[in-house]
Amino acid sequence: MARIKKAKMIVGLQWGDEGKGAEIDRRSLKADLIVRCMGGNNAGHTTVYNGESLVLHLLPSAVASGKQIGIGAGVIVNPLSLINEIRYVQTFGLNPVPLLSLDRRCGLVMVYHRVMDMAKELVRSRGGKVIGTTARGIGPTYSDIADRSAIRISDLLGDVTRLIKMVETQLQQKTQILEGMGLTNDEWNQIFEQLTKKEITANSRLLEKRIIREDDLDYRRFKSRDEKIGFNSEEIGLACVAAAQIISNWQIAYPGDVTDLVHQMIIRGKSVMIEGAQGALLDNYFGTYPFVTSSHTIAGGACVGLGIGPGLIGEVRGIAKAYTTRVGSGPFPTAMPDELAKAIRGDGSAIGDEFGASTGRPRDCGWFDAVVVRTGCRLSGVTKVTITKLDKLSGLESIRIGCDWQLRSRTFPFVPTDIELLNDPDFTPIYVECRGWQQDISQARSWDDLPQAAKYYVETLEDLVNHGAIRPIKIDRIGVGPAPGQFIDL
Ligand code: IMP
Repeated sequence: MARIKKAKMIVGLQWGDEGKGAEIDRRSLKADLIVRCMGGNNAGHTTVYNGESLVLHLLPSAVASGKQIGIGAGVIVNPLSLINEIRYVQTFGLNPVPLLSLDRRCGLVMVYHRVMDMAKELVRSRGGKVIGTTARGIGPTYSDIADRSAIRISDLLGDVTRLIKMVETQLQQKTQILEGMGLTNDEWNQIFEQLTKKEITANSRLLEKRIIREDDLDYRRFKSRDEKIGFNSEEIGLACVAAAQIISNWQIAYPGDVTDLVHQMIIRGKSVMIEGAQGALLDNYFGTYPFVTSSHTIAGGACVGLGIGPGLIGEVRGIAKAYTTRVGSGPFPTAMPDELAKAIRGDGSAIGDEFGASTGRPRDCGWFDAVVVRTGCRLSGVTKVTITKLDKLSGLESIRIGCDWQLRSRTFPFVPTDIELLNDPDFTPIYVECRGWQQDISQARSWDDLPQAAKYYVETLEDLVNHGAIRPIKIDRIGVGPAPGQFIDL
């Protein structure tokens, strides 16, 4: 028997969008299997393939590497989005289908989950506490899984009559809940209008290439024909059956048990790479609750999402940006002044600009926050860190780093359990100030290529992140641009 090889994992250490995709792309070249274990198509990973940006939401980032890829049971799958994403990837001349394993236990994101997601945000907005979700139906789907009423891939690919019955039952139940939420007819109609717009924007590349038609993305057909709150169960049933037919015709690599696949690969001494989604501070338990997602985005989420023991995961590499970004609502202690944030964000025309890969929303930008990254490292047991996008800080006179949080006489080196504290007018991050550098560092390929001020900045980050760490944390890789080769290994 070959010596077993523990899986490696990549996790985000901030609020997502740290640049995990590029790291996974690079490491996937040496991996035999790349698997996702958490979240759904709320994630967005932009990679570059043949000079063109390739944006993925559900498929593992390594799709271009030609390696086996898997979607584990902890991932929730919107079948219509998966089908469209595969079609999109195929336009690059890639065919992920024969390389894909899809766990039959994955919960399905259905039309009604997306509608519930939007309706809940609308109701929250009345109390002024919007979460700013991606509107991909993530929270309502994970709620159904916990409630044991989810429809799963195995149901989608099983008996059609049973599937339709399950969908109808869910539609009745969801309609009752939605009726109780006090939405007006106008609001109800608006939800379907907005979902349609979002789908058209999200699939613009497929529309341009005429791979799908705008009608296919029209959510308005899923609404009941009268003006009242309710669904068109016939249309939703038809869409499910059509998706089931397409997916069951795929000649996918492994018959639906990604847990078994991962174990088989590990036993055979193959290299397994686990791709985390979002970031530690969006974890449903340990993040800045309630401004979080609904899955477990820390390393432990991989054990739950793939059905493997922690002993089978070796290295957990954390990814953090050289500054901080956030999308959606919630606390952001080290937010930058508007002008500066605007300059870092860019206008969306360049690959590294700070706009959501899933939703196109502009990301809020802030200084690096050691409290956030320290907490992320602790929650995932991270000892190796990649810092991405250091080049984006070039040209600043001085750069701030949040080192601790403070509320009157209390200092917080880690994110406190009660984030309400952050609303206290006396709450403040404590900063250290570093000198900036003016040179373009995007061509730097070794530590010595970096200006002294940039070296000092990275050393300060490492020093601050290590405060209170059980094991030493090393920054051993620095990203200086979006292309695959724009990295410095230390
Ligand atoms: P949801 O996951 O769509 O329910 O959104 C919950 C929160 O997580 C919102 O603040 C989203 O902006 C945020 N979120 C979800 N996925 C991502 C991601 O991939 N990157 C950054 N933020 C995300």
